[in-house]
Amino acid sequence: MEELINVNKVRHAFSGAVKNYDKHAELQREVGRRLLAHLEFTKINPENILDIGCGTGFFTRLLAGKYKKAHIHATDISESMVCHTKAQHPKRLPWQRKYHHSVGDAIALPFKDASFDLVTSNLTIQWVPEAQAMMKEMRRVLKPGGLMLFSTFGRRTLVELKQTLAHVSPEHTSSVLPFADVMSLGNSLGECAVEGLVTDADLFTLTYPNALSLMQELKGLGASSKAIKGRSGGLYGRALLRHIEAYYTEHFQHDNGKVYATFEALYAQAWHKDYSYKDKKNVIPIVCS
Ligand SMILES: C[S@@+](CC[C@H](N)C(=O)[O-])C[C@H]1O[C@@H](n2cnc3c(N)ncnc32)[C@H](O)[C@@H]1O
Repeated sequence: MEELINVNKVRHAFSGAVKNYDKHAELQREVGRRLLAHLEFTKINPENILDIGCGTGFFTRLLAGKYKKAHIHATDISESMVCHTKAQHPKRLPWQRKYHHSVGDAIALPFKDASFDLVTSNLTIQWVPEAQAMMKEMRRVLKPGGLMLFSTFGRRTLVELKQTLAHVSPEHTSSVLPFADVMSLGNSLGECAVEGLVTDADLFTLTYPNALSLMQELKGLGASSKAIKGRSGGLYGRALLRHIEAYYTEHFQHDNGKVYATFEALYAQAWHKDYSYKDKKNVIPIVCS
């Protein structure tokens, strides 16, 4: 799964999506709100927070609203996304907390070890070629006793589109990301010297006027199939689009004439365990769900 993603093309696709991203991102915002809700019952008062893959900054602003005194660091692999987020943040008055912005790759973060009390990421890890490398980076920059919290899409996401492509054009099925399942996500995180690991999932069913509008929305979000290695531009020719539309409509249409698509959001949180994760024999992951 993991070598499928081309990081340069991911950067390019998201940079190209900056202007229209917010128009299409209601689901991303809802997942962000639910991710934030996971902090409601958590005893934490972070001074320094890092949000990885900040995009246009929606989740970063939720964090800023919740932790009013914390210094907030937003990072993204796309410079355009970082600039957009920065432009939304108020100019700092001397007595106010600081916002920081940086361009950085989630698997090689430009921060020292043990820098943050809370490290978050909303719907970014599915775009990182090696998910576990990102989890280890989140763990590296966490202070001992700190918390990491992230969301991603699960394997039931876009099952209808995958089935449609498998039927009308099997060679295009790899143009939908192979999303993680909750068990392997928990296992990967459990190997990163963390404790108190908790995973959770939500299913969403969204409706669209037709299959084409679903695909246009995915493109508007920067979820370009070009970012998946082996896929090229101009992927769906007109004839193929007609076949996709026909199959999708026949199999995945509500009575009201609209088509539907499933999205599964996975959430994970874990606390920094205070010893080197090289010392693997001492790592006892606790998987709660
Ligand atoms: C689906 S958007 C989510 C944006 C934001 N977190 C939100 O909740 O709306 C994914 C973001 O991850 C960024 N991204 C993708 N790969 C990345 C990587 N390797 N390192 C850092 N950011 C990355 C993209 O540029 C994009 O802004």
